[in-house]
Amino acid sequence: MSTSQRALWTRVVLGGIALGACATLAWSLDPEAGAATVSGAARTTIDRQVDADAQASLRRGRLIFRSATFGSEHFFGDVLRLHEAVAHVPPRTALAVGLKVDADAVPPRVLASANLDDPATTLALLRLNAVIGVRGVFDPAQSANGGLKSLGITCAFCHSTVDDSVAPGIGHRLDGWPNRDLNVGAIIGLSPNLQVVADRLETDLPTVRTVLASWGPGRFDASLFMDGKGLRPDGKTAAVLIPPAYGLAGVNLHTYTGWGSVPYWNAFVANLEMNGLGTFYDPRLADAAKFPLAAAHHLDDKRDAVDLVTDKLADLHFYQLALRAPVPPPGSFDPAAAARGRVLFAGKAACATCHVPPLYTDPGQNLHTAEEIGIDDFQAQRSPTGAYRTTPLKGAWSRAKGGYYHDGRFATLRDVVDHYDGFLHLGLTPEEKADLVEFLKSL
Ligand code: HEC
Ligand code: HEC
Repeated sequence: MSTSQRALWTRVVLGGIALGACATLAWSLDPEAGAATVSGAARTTIDRQVDADAQASLRRGRLIFRSATFGSEHFFGDVLRLHEAVAHVPPRTALAVGLKVDADAVPPRVLASANLDDPATTLALLRLNAVIGVRGVFDPAQSANGGLKSLGITCAFCHSTVDDSVAPGIGHRLDGWPNRDLNVGAIIGLSPNLQVVADRLETDLPTVRTVLASWGPGRFDASLFMDGKGLRPDGKTAAVLIPPAYGLAGVNLHTYTGWGSVPYWNAFVANLEMNGLGTFYDPRLADAAKFPLAAAHHLDDKRDAVDLVTDKLADLHFYQLALRAPVPPPGSFDPAAAARGRVLFAGKAACATCHVPPLYTDPGQNLHTAEEIGIDDFQAQRSPTGAYRTTPLKGAWSRAKGGYYHDGRFATLRDVVDHYDGFLHLGLTPEEKADLVEFLKSL
């Protein structure tokens, strides 16, 4: 063999080994094959560091999601004075407006003997940080309101519930699940200082009370303080259903109308909805025609003297990405029908053109016009995008309460399928519709 031939063969053999190694790597990285780690390869220093960083970030993110108030006590406590009302509310009333109790934060003995009709129990639960999403600030030197000096809220207030393992409303936390029992309007309505809300909305107290009462359980209106639209043109509430905060990894735009990414929206909510102290910048909110209140109050460029939000955004985002959509319980759907429904979803019903598996939203710019999905554009026009975001469908079974679509206009998954069938002229038979519903229930 000549030198040049030998060099060629060496290259071929080395190339073959490299290709083989790649193939092995590709196989072992394939989650379908059940092995998500690089098998056999020694973990390097950076691997170990990344793993440790991820764990630490996850732990911090969980704590932030559950417990960080971002300084929102200044608004809910000092301004709205909600604590003055909450201190005199018995747990039974709190549970009735959808507040949830974290059973793991309360010693079992205490839980078993708790008097749910005594406001002192509410205060005790708040001291234990057991009321999900509500954090009390206590002052031992103060006797008024049982020592409750102020209170703030956390992301878990709206985006967590419990599994009811102890009693309805009392159980283990379910982070990321929307609380479709929570009556945010009724809770804010307890404020002895609602005039502040009226001032912010540039309206009068009776209007504020009407709007808050129109929300009902499981709803909140994140656009109200931007555009002041409390009711839709048809007179119904303009509030939307609280969406889940699970199953969002890999999804580009967030909120029903695609305001932005997860970290965009987290900053928006912590600053502009929870009234935390921080920094927020979005020049789109300076559009006085679309967002008259936001423009008037300079919400497009908020810079508080202290920033309790920005240093939490990275860990919070990391934790949210780790919250998978819950899998349906065994027996909750018919597997054979769901398998037929899967074929329809990708075929005759053409759902998968927008709800692309396994994300079940459009990879890329996941927005569509109201006309494309056959509904009105009221809510879409309240957003800078003017469009609706394709909802990721995983875990849809777990958020049936309140209905489907941004405003719950469809009570059941069957109603959603009927809507598409009529609007898109799909010509589905009743059996095919039933199969499609079983498939949706299986996600
Ligand atoms: C008072 C209730 C409430 C609180 C508190 C709240 N949210 Fe939300 N969240 C909502 C509502 C309602 C929407 C839907 C907004 C829309 O589409 O107009 C939403 C939307 C979202 C979305 C988009 C979900 C999707 O499907 O794209 C994310 C992410 C989110 N919230 C995270 C958070 C985080 C993080 C916090 C804490 C910093 C938080 N939320 C606090 C009610 C709340
Ligand atoms: C043109 C894109 C598009 C097509 C095609 C499409 N969808 Fe949707 N889908 C959307 C958008 C956008 C939304 C959000 C609507 C809203 O919230 O008002 C949505 C919402 C939904 C929801 C509600 C989810 C929730 O949690 O509220 C379900 C269920 C659903 N679609 C199922 C289907 C099925 C089944 C098909 C096929 C028959 C289908 N979609 C076809 C874009 C599409």
